[in-house]
Amino acid sequence: MTEVRERTGVGAAEPRLEAREKVTGQALYAADRPVPGAAYAWPVPAAFARGRVNTVDTGPALAVDGVLSVLWHGNAPRLERSGDPHLRVLQTPEVTYRGQIVALVVATTPESAREGAEAVVIDARTAPADTVLRADHAGLYEPELVNGGYPGRLDKGDFDTGFGAAEVRVDATYHTPAEHHVAMEPHATTAFWEHGRLVVYDATQSSTAVRDSLATLFELPPQLVRVHNEHVGGGFGSKGAAKPNVVLAAMAARVVGRPVKLAMPRAAVFATEGYRTPTIQRVRLGADRRGRLVALGHESCSQSSRLVEYTEQAAVVSRVLYGVPNLATGHRVVRLDVPPPTWMRAPGDCPGAFALESAMDELAAAGNWDPVRLRIDNDAVTDAEGRPFSSRHLVECLLRGAERFGWAGRDPRPGTRREGRWLLGSGVAATTFPAITMPSTATARAISDDDFEVAVNAADIGTGARTVLRQIAADALGVDPGCVDISVGDSAIGPAPVAGGSMGTSSWGWAVTKACRQLRERIDGAHQGHVPPEGVATDADTTADLAARPDYARHAFGAQFCAVRVDPATGEVRVDRLLGVFAAGRIINPLTARSQLLGAMTMGVSMALMEQSVMDRRSGDFVTSDLSAYHVAVNADVPRIDVEVLEEEDPHLNPMGSKGVGELGIVGTAAAVANAVHHATGIRMRSLPITPAALLYASRGAYSARASTGGTT
Ligand code: MOS
Repeated sequence: MTEVRERTGVGAAEPRLEAREKVTGQALYAADRPVPGAAYAWPVPAAFARGRVNTVDTGPALAVDGVLSVLWHGNAPRLERSGDPHLRVLQTPEVTYRGQIVALVVATTPESAREGAEAVVIDARTAPADTVLRADHAGLYEPELVNGGYPGRLDKGDFDTGFGAAEVRVDATYHTPAEHHVAMEPHATTAFWEHGRLVVYDATQSSTAVRDSLATLFELPPQLVRVHNEHVGGGFGSKGAAKPNVVLAAMAARVVGRPVKLAMPRAAVFATEGYRTPTIQRVRLGADRRGRLVALGHESCSQSSRLVEYTEQAAVVSRVLYGVPNLATGHRVVRLDVPPPTWMRAPGDCPGAFALESAMDELAAAGNWDPVRLRIDNDAVTDAEGRPFSSRHLVECLLRGAERFGWAGRDPRPGTRREGRWLLGSGVAATTFPAITMPSTATARAISDDDFEVAVNAADIGTGARTVLRQIAADALGVDPGCVDISVGDSAIGPAPVAGGSMGTSSWGWAVTKACRQLRERIDGAHQGHVPPEGVATDADTTADLAARPDYARHAFGAQFCAVRVDPATGEVRVDRLLGVFAAGRIINPLTARSQLLGAMTMGVSMALMEQSVMDRRSGDFVTSDLSAYHVAVNADVPRIDVEVLEEEDPHLNPMGSKGVGELGIVGTAAAVANAVHHATGIRMRSLPITPAALLYASRGAYSARASTGGTT
């Protein structure tokens, strides 16, 4: 049987190139890399959240058979300062969070390293720790810039006057918990030194960033550091920059003079490799009688660590999603005795949209407006800074979604539909994520007329990056993808941005397009369309191309529709159906794009109903530190999910016309679920996750709460 394929380049549903390697166990991840004479490292975490390590008694650990070395701040090699203080591991006696690594045991086997780590005796002076985020915490301050480089505060018009004069108002506060990424592959590194050069195989979303951090910390020229990340088992932001594991492994390899493997134990991943900060967000919406927003206020509180200021940009989504004359958006952060939070899939927009899109549903209920109509009526023409959108099809997504979901004729009254013991409901939420592009380099080489090599230092973290980049290269060269060998995941290829911020395909793809088009021109111009026997090569850098782009607000949009059933006796919520309709520019590969959107929507259901990292407030310890305690959605929890992507042309992005799709699908999902739960039960869940216990607890006050719908008029 012959398979007839219409097209094989951009737009084709190409399966992942590395699929067979992965499912047959041939793909090598960071800790799998075979290296002769490897030693193994195991971390020793601080068992207190705040204090000083006086001394570390390494004797009992060194007495364990196979233990080669015990590193701690008293004997570890000195590191230079880097931009991220968290990377200066084992340099000072200070402990700033529970689980901070205070010693590292290196041994000939993982088992002896672990046994050694348990034998290390830490003598420390501890102090009471402050670990709880509260909206009235005295330490909260307004940072000038928040994550993503956005201004912390952005106001427009006169919020107080606008809100005061509004005819319909919502004033509500929403809570999102700390969450962990729990990528299947833990943070892991294989490191060795070779004639003064440092080579690492690292589980990272950016080998360029890791190379630069290691070069700084170990005072090496960047060309003496090589970082490989050919296969990465998920990241979701937690592997977006160099992390303690890679520095520890490199340090240990130097000390013991042989290759060192460090695969972080799962509990250490929870403690020290990053998490999504909890947020407390107050949203105030004011509308006129016809359902036009006249005032929007969004104030977010989040936490960071003593080591690093990281402010989740949760209110930034309110600068993009709706048009409103009077806007107040701000952020406050407090530095606590907790681990450094970091990026997690759709940082800012994801928790922010839970608050904003829940509040929009509350506004719709208060004004007796249809929630889809309310969103359409408040579509924006520019972002809050007055920039026009390069393309924006939120309204089309809402309309198409409503049609496909069967929204028409929905009875807005909550708690009125039953099927046996189940209460049924449906909800909607809007979605957006910035379409980011960053400078990248790439190279292309012609070996023969049907054999090309293209290299770009992308990280394929399970997204299909290498597959779509090969499609892009093939189109730019005007050949079949089968003629292109694509290389990724090696810092030696050249600088390229992180597989994060949904910027990968746009950024790497632009550089690939440029290198390949140059190559094609070179071949066609000088060689009558044939590759000369000695070959031709080109390289490209998109820094100048990006700087020349006009100033547009570039974002992808979408709408999510959700149907739930709720058992009022047990508080169980089942998501029956989830539909996402998105507009994200040109889709390079419908198969891998759908997989990204589907995965993110699944993660959104997980966020809505299950995920929460529980910290013991006295010890500062994340007690949910394994996958039996930290619940994520599994197959049985995932409903029927439908994904539709609208065609969207946008000439203001990059040569492919693509926007990112890695994060878009999680934004708004939790609000769609919570809004459906409200429609089913009449109970407004303003805190995540909506566990059976939380819903039952809230239902006890449901009748009194409904009589005075929290702050609406
Ligand atoms: Mo993603 S949180 O930008 O890796």
